[in-house]
Amino acid sequence: VSLVGPGEEPIVLDVPTAPVRVPTTRRYLMCAPEHFTVAYSINPWMDPTRPISTALAVEQWTALKETYEGLGHRVETIQPEPGLPDMVFAANSGTVVDGRVLGSRFRAPQRAAEADHFRRWFLANGYRDVVMPERTNEAEGDLAWTGRYLLAGTGFRTDPLAHAEAQEALGVPVISLQLVDPRYYHLDVALFVLADDLVAYYPEAFSPGSLRVLERLFPDAVVATEEDAACLGLNAVSDGRHVVLPVEAVHLAGEVAKRGFEPVFVDISELRKSGGGPKCCTMELRD
Ligand code: ARG
Repeated sequence: VSLVGPGEEPIVLDVPTAPVRVPTTRRYLMCAPEHFTVAYSINPWMDPTRPISTALAVEQWTALKETYEGLGHRVETIQPEPGLPDMVFAANSGTVVDGRVLGSRFRAPQRAAEADHFRRWFLANGYRDVVMPERTNEAEGDLAWTGRYLLAGTGFRTDPLAHAEAQEALGVPVISLQLVDPRYYHLDVALFVLADDLVAYYPEAFSPGSLRVLERLFPDAVVATEEDAACLGLNAVSDGRHVVLPVEAVHLAGEVAKRGFEPVFVDISELRKSGGGPKCCTMELRD
């Protein structure tokens, strides 16, 4: 900004272009990918004929966990179970808002047993208000808490009737959003929450009506590109300042940096072969 008075030299003020983003300490639940593999295909990313390195997945997951701890967050872990190769994607097994838990019910029979392992973890870890859904509900895979609304995806996994169940169980206003691209089969690969009432999303993943809902609710949103979405860049985790996202998501990282956030890159190449990224591995415990 330059101010010019009559007969004066211009005064150039250094006006910050983005607000200062303040992180808050988070508590996450994660599950080590000790039994990770791609044994079946329930989304277009999964090709069971491609080789998978479980050791590399464990290495990448450990680096993700250490990234959170390095940012000052607390990470709880749940014991991985043999025969449940997708259990690493902890975000699909529960939605916790204000200490209330809504568990999950998986669409694919191959993942069904995960839900009860997490239900028992919640009960063993002091949660008293734990509701298990009647309808297919893949938890934070399709449910995103903005601090005001619970954004709820449907189209591939979570049943639209599960959205009403979530509203009752958690006592929060639910906004249903229709997903239309099978590569972005969960809401959390198409949208993430940067800060209270600020999101980033990939427009093409949504139906025209749902896109208008997003534009209406979040006129300041970060709008992601095809390349941001294609590396699962939207499967990111923000603590209000730091945004943990896949290393390939350079364009998206630049966009969030312009808004005052600090991108923190992680390599999730092995987990992406199952259609997952940082957020899928991370359930937030909002106690
Ligand atoms: N292979 C898993 C599935 O298709 C990946 C889940 C990723 N999780 C997520 N929150 N998007 O169910």
